[in-house]
Amino acid sequence: MAAYIGHICKLTLPRIRCHSRIDTYYNHIRAITSIVHQSKKQVVLGIETSCDDTGAAVVSEDGEILGEDLYSQQKIHLLHGGIIPPIANRLHAERIESVVTTAIERSGVSLNEIDAIATTVKPGLSLSLCVGINYGKKLALSANKPFIPIHHMEAHALTIRMIEKVEFPFLVLLISGGHSLLVLARSLDEWSIIGKSVDDAPGEALDKGARRLKLRNIPELSSMCGGQAIEYLARDGNPRAFDFPTPMWKYSDCTFSFSGLKFTLKKTVEKLEEEYEIEGGRIIPQVKDVCASYQYAITKHIVRQTQRAMVYVETRELLPKENYTLVVSGGVACNQYIRRALSLLCTEMGYRLVCPPPKLCTDNGIMIAWNGMERWKAKSGILYNKDDIEAVKFQPKCPIGEDLTDDVRSLGIKIKRWVKFR
Ligand code: KG4
Ligand code: ZN
Repeated sequence: MAAYIGHICKLTLPRIRCHSRIDTYYNHIRAITSIVHQSKKQVVLGIETSCDDTGAAVVSEDGEILGEDLYSQQKIHLLHGGIIPPIANRLHAERIESVVTTAIERSGVSLNEIDAIATTVKPGLSLSLCVGINYGKKLALSANKPFIPIHHMEAHALTIRMIEKVEFPFLVLLISGGHSLLVLARSLDEWSIIGKSVDDAPGEALDKGARRLKLRNIPELSSMCGGQAIEYLARDGNPRAFDFPTPMWKYSDCTFSFSGLKFTLKKTVEKLEEEYEIEGGRIIPQVKDVCASYQYAITKHIVRQTQRAMVYVETRELLPKENYTLVVSGGVACNQYIRRALSLLCTEMGYRLVCPPPKLCTDNGIMIAWNGMERWKAKSGILYNKDDIEAVKFQPKCPIGEDLTDDVRSLGIKIKRWVKFR
């Protein structure tokens, strides 16, 4: 820093004319401060606690991750077979202070130098959201910083813009443990839903499927989440060994449904366990084939609804033809098999496929900080006033935007040829 200021002095001092030595001194200091201030990068702190990850990060205006920390509750929830909200609440409350402090310390930026504090306020588990929102608001008020409320799904969708040039409008597929959404991102504040799930999300189907298959009893899979464990075993399995019906095939919209697949998996496993007299914690011999077939069925449903969404986008001319882009994010987007299938779909439909690296697809503080930074730069959705900040409440449910499902349905889109993948 000293060398930097020295460099600035050499550049600026000769140009400043003053009458007295003392005036000269103060003018020099003012000029230096102004140049240092102008060249200082804007930085935003992001806080995430919408589900079972306590995350915080400091991100700069050009997308540099200056500091970050993430505490995952996954191992504890795995022991209970799913997320137990009061446990998530206690773990967030125990960790939030240290996660935020660590992220700031690692960034090398002081709290004083942070421009704004962004925090997830919707959607998510009430008992999880409330910890982050209370902490973020208190910190903003005590440090006298602007507060930026963040929509968790918008943050997933925009993370890619921290890494790559992706301009509005674009199509987004968000697949996670709590969501399954096909969305048109028009601008920071304009989102339209093309398709959403009527029941479970794919991550939920994978997590519950892995639990029914008792995959946690396989030592090398014991600390993996359901989606990861199924992907791992599916690599050595036959995706055509078991038949899972394709959901929603009768409807000409982009709606998702995963509960039927989850039910078929349960029935398939029950039947095999009975047939092979499998009891207790033991695992069926066909586990790899079941995982591969289940993953194939989930992928096929995701790919088909996305293909129909692409035809809808083309029919309604919602994206510029020369720049068809599909962004895929959310925890399930870590799955390489699903990515490959979507990549084939994009090639055939003339789309550019962009996905953040797996680490940025699952929940984290970086995506919240980056969405905060996008809003900070656009001067949109920022709260400066004490009363406005105090009035912010969490919203467990909050659609990302207007729902176009009826319009999709009204077109009665028929697909001539489904894109094939193996
Ligand atoms: O986005 P995320 O971290 O949290 C939510 O907002 O839900 O997503 C978590 C979900 C879990 O259901 C997990 O099983 C799934 O992402 N997941 C995967 C993989 N890694 C995580 N699903 C499929 N394949 C993976 N490799
Ligand atoms: Zn998420």
